[in-house]
Amino acid sequence: MLLLCQSVLCALAQYSVIPKPVAMHTGDGVFAIDNNTQLIAPGELKNEAAFLRQYVQAQSGIRLSMSRSATSNRYIHLLIDTAINYKAESYTLDITTKNITLSAHDAAGVLYGLQTLRQLIKGSAKTLQLPVCNITDYPRFAYRGMHLDVSRHFFSVDFIKQYIDVLSLYKFNTFHWHLTDDQGWRVEIKKYPELQRMGAWRDGTLIGHKKELPHTFDNKKYGGYYTQEEVKAVVRYAAEKHITIIPEIEMPGHALAALAAYPSLGCTGGPYKTAKFWGVFDDVFCAGNDSTFTFLQNVLDEVAALFPSRYIHIGGDECPKGKWNQCPKCLKRMKEERLSDAHELQSYFVKRVEKYLNSKGKQAIGWDEILEGGLSPNATVMSWRGEEGGIAAAQQKHDVIMAPESHVYFDYYQSLYPEEQLAAGGYTPLSKVYSYEPMASVQEDSIRTYLKGVQGEVWSEYLPTVAKAQHAIFPRLIALGEVAWSQQASRNYPDFLSRLRQQRTLLKKLNIATADVFDEINYTSTVKDNRVEVTLTTTLPNGRIYYTTDGTVPTPKSQQYSGAFTLAKNAEVKAVLFDVNKQYGRLFKQAFFVHKATGKTVTIKQQPIARFNTNSSALVNGVLGTTRYNDNQWLGFKGQDYEAIVDLGAATPVSNIKMNVLNYHWQKMWQPDHVQFLVSTDGIYFNIIYTANSFPVNGINTIEATFKAVNARYVKVIAKNKGIIPAEEYGAGEQALLLIDEIIVQ
Ligand code: ACM
Ligand code: ZN
Repeated sequence: MLLLCQSVLCALAQYSVIPKPVAMHTGDGVFAIDNNTQLIAPGELKNEAAFLRQYVQAQSGIRLSMSRSATSNRYIHLLIDTAINYKAESYTLDITTKNITLSAHDAAGVLYGLQTLRQLIKGSAKTLQLPVCNITDYPRFAYRGMHLDVSRHFFSVDFIKQYIDVLSLYKFNTFHWHLTDDQGWRVEIKKYPELQRMGAWRDGTLIGHKKELPHTFDNKKYGGYYTQEEVKAVVRYAAEKHITIIPEIEMPGHALAALAAYPSLGCTGGPYKTAKFWGVFDDVFCAGNDSTFTFLQNVLDEVAALFPSRYIHIGGDECPKGKWNQCPKCLKRMKEERLSDAHELQSYFVKRVEKYLNSKGKQAIGWDEILEGGLSPNATVMSWRGEEGGIAAAQQKHDVIMAPESHVYFDYYQSLYPEEQLAAGGYTPLSKVYSYEPMASVQEDSIRTYLKGVQGEVWSEYLPTVAKAQHAIFPRLIALGEVAWSQQASRNYPDFLSRLRQQRTLLKKLNIATADVFDEINYTSTVKDNRVEVTLTTTLPNGRIYYTTDGTVPTPKSQQYSGAFTLAKNAEVKAVLFDVNKQYGRLFKQAFFVHKATGKTVTIKQQPIARFNTNSSALVNGVLGTTRYNDNQWLGFKGQDYEAIVDLGAATPVSNIKMNVLNYHWQKMWQPDHVQFLVSTDGIYFNIIYTANSFPVNGINTIEATFKAVNARYVKVIAKNKGIIPAEEYGAGEQALLLIDEIIVQ
């Protein structure tokens, strides 16, 4: 056992490669790189050879001598051998004490092998060492993408290049560059100078989160764009790293910046202003106006010339149809083209642009809304509102990239700590990204074959600085890298974390600050007999947790956590985490409520939607849902009312009932029309004891009724769904979501 540890296990533990290779065997000994090491590579691998030489030199000062064939017996040999490596992007890396042979299917495979090699190198000035090992590796998915929104906040060319470097390090092959949106047009289009003069700039930026009312703005001019020369340089840079850049030009929605520059492209003719606020705007490209298509075709001509990518992303998401339904030109178009509604008009729009792209030898990708009103003949679908759109597209034999908001939107919070950096949406911890299994619900190979891969999204509304962007992106990007590249069977979260921790040195050298919040204290809880049992967890190796339940801040003198504990009354658990000798991370705080309904049986009449918790027990588990709405506490009902009955088990005096609803119109979550609390002793005849009609808080509304004690065994709560989201609101015309949590009975 000891022997095994010394030779194999320790070497594996010591060397951490992400994404995990398909197969890796280690042996004894090391290969040492020194000034006598030769680098042998054919001319077609000159970029890859240069990459390795630069890396070795930067690490150690060692200059590898280049050669076309071995003249010394200590060498690193890069070659393409498609007989051994028959899968695209695959490589084999063989490290002995004498030499290194990296053979690959193609130049991309060589680069991936070098990225692996780079993660294996130990040492610094003068001596670099690599463990004796043999690696066989190839990707699971052909499409491994990361997106970046540069419209909401603009990122420098240097930042983009650094992003490309890291994408390559973790074996991504696609960068989806979201170049246009309401808040700024970011790519130079020579034919349309107003895009640069007007569209690239806004008069200010929202301060804080858009859910905070009233909205305030900094009124500072903000903007910028990439010149075509800069774009070309970035494209060249990416190509050397075998990264394809897919540009996105948004249409027909998310178009305010373009309309501000060229108001005649909108239904009303404007005037329009580049947006200062985050969201979805009613003014979109007019679909009745032929000049809109001329404009977009001219733009796409320039974009197609800049980007060699076979694919161009044309957006298609979140296009409100209100203006089209009132626009004479759009209505005329619908009539002439026999389109039955505005969804079909959107489909007409996307199809027309796709046809143009196809005529130029390019393919269109669109967000999953392009399914509505009929999918364009050849379009690839990027599924973001969950996987349904992607699955529907695959069923229609269209290629699909899974990019669901539920798992791979890195603008979501990555921890539930209240101090976590401001983020757009709910809660997507590292573990959730790592657990993502695309199209898990689909078994049929005939459908799965259209799943081309996965992509993570970085929307930048709340990422005004490089530091904030890095915090949001890392390490979640690294987890997605493993999802995209590694074999499903090899995925193991604790093992990933131990490798991830070992990447810190490398990331630091690359000036990348990662959010190391994933090892912080977390909790789970269960309810039993009117008590809450709390389990505290950490993934920090050898982490020790100290906690209190009396409100005081814990120290190493407080109770050390050794296993689940129970709470028989309301308490706020506070806990701190220590590694060997110092505190790690932030103070953990979580309130638990123990009340008459805690752990009791709840029967709900309607089926909650799968996007949130679907288990009715979450309503009486003693934990309140937070504004990070997918925290697994809320139950959601789409367009449906909600009716729940709690059985307290026996007649019990009740004098207070509380319930929370989440009112977040920007997430299509609407306050109910009314809420009623009822009580009963027999479960048949219920007395209404409280009705609420007003839920004024933007956020969590607590509905509370205090009354003279009554004897009740059953408590019923009814909440009437808003129904259809009203005009002018986000999601107008769609069914409103009703979010409900904890029913507290006292
Ligand atoms: C999107 O998040 N609107 C694609
Ligand atoms: Zn119109």
